[in-house]
Amino acid sequence: MQMPSIRLESLGASVFTEMDNLKRELEKAGNNLINLSIGSPDRAPALEIRNVLSQAVLDDNQYGYTLTRGTEEFRKVCAEWYQERFGVTLNPETEVLPLMGSQDGLAHIFLAYIDPGDLAFIPDPGYPIYTAGLMLAGGKKVAIPLLEENGYLPDLKQIDPDLARKAKLMFLNYPNNPTAAVANLSFFEKVVDFAKEYDLLICHDAAYSELAFEGFKPVSFLQARGAKEVGIEFHSVSKTYNLAGARLGFAVGNADVIGTLSQLKSNIDYGVFAPVLTAGAYALNNGQESIEENQSAYQRRRDLLIEGCALAGWKMPLPQGSMFVWAPVPTEQDSVSFAMDLAREAGVIVVPGVAFGEHGEGFVRVALVQDESVLQEAVQRIQQFLKKG
Ligand SMILES: Cc1ncc(COP(=O)(O)O)c(C=O)c1O
Repeated sequence: MQMPSIRLESLGASVFTEMDNLKRELEKAGNNLINLSIGSPDRAPALEIRNVLSQAVLDDNQYGYTLTRGTEEFRKVCAEWYQERFGVTLNPETEVLPLMGSQDGLAHIFLAYIDPGDLAFIPDPGYPIYTAGLMLAGGKKVAIPLLEENGYLPDLKQIDPDLARKAKLMFLNYPNNPTAAVANLSFFEKVVDFAKEYDLLICHDAAYSELAFEGFKPVSFLQARGAKEVGIEFHSVSKTYNLAGARLGFAVGNADVIGTLSQLKSNIDYGVFAPVLTAGAYALNNGQESIEENQSAYQRRRDLLIEGCALAGWKMPLPQGSMFVWAPVPTEQDSVSFAMDLAREAGVIVVPGVAFGEHGEGFVRVALVQDESVLQEAVQRIQQFLKKG
């Protein structure tokens, strides 16, 4: 058999694969595991969203290709939602592009802009698709460290100006996966200035913009003055409305960049399934109540985990957004050894921070993707595990 491409090999085996193998081994041995690793929403979409989806599925006329730009209705609703939620005006014809999940755009933007050898700034720790997308396009990663002392925001002043001049783009993501950090408008304004100074394309992943706690409302990168001149933002309906498996997201912002991404995608796919666009448009128009319910559910889970672990001496910072808790490893171990011991001895699966980049070492990411009763059981197991010490 022929060998896979060198491109594919450049991705290498990840810590995720290692954890996955361990999980499978433990399951095979009959262990009852609680999986707090993958950020896949366990909650169902609101019933009314599912009703709209199922009605659309029964409609004879919803089975053609929607093509890359999707329906006019969906693009219009995205623009209206942006206006309402962020006060940002978008042209639905040129500044909005539906995606088959935001991942589709996050991966493909690199193929649209990066030639072999081109440099891109990627946050470390960071959501793995940014690195994978860059590697698949043959680009070179320049890691920008996200450090606790900077609130997990990149320190733009520390970036080497020579590298900044050479680099083509920079990825950012707030509320952040894995650190759960949030960014404010003044940070995004500095990013815009930086992008203008060095002619960088900014790609902001806002997958968790609607998952925040205690009334906190994350800002959009596009709210920053001049942002549309330098970048685009990726949105997902996966976490916002628990529609992850339906595969729907959208990119918004600079019309040239949206056009370029659309051009690339028109060579690859034939668009999102029409009923999914219809349900997504309905959700964006009518889903505020379900967003609030979701936020309360995740907030209760967050509190349950953090309070329970604190009782066993494991102190974790309280996140303002995202579905994750970024917890310092409470033992002397590195993040992989700790996560493996926690899996073997307590049957609780979390992700070692180093899976997200070298600056993730010293932390584990806990995803709040189980309901309160299961999470309570996980907390008890963690407490016993830490007591055994
Ligand atoms: C930061 C971040 N961006 C994007 C995604 C992908 O979301 P989607 O389902 O829209 O492809 C995820 C999924 O976990 C994520 O954590």
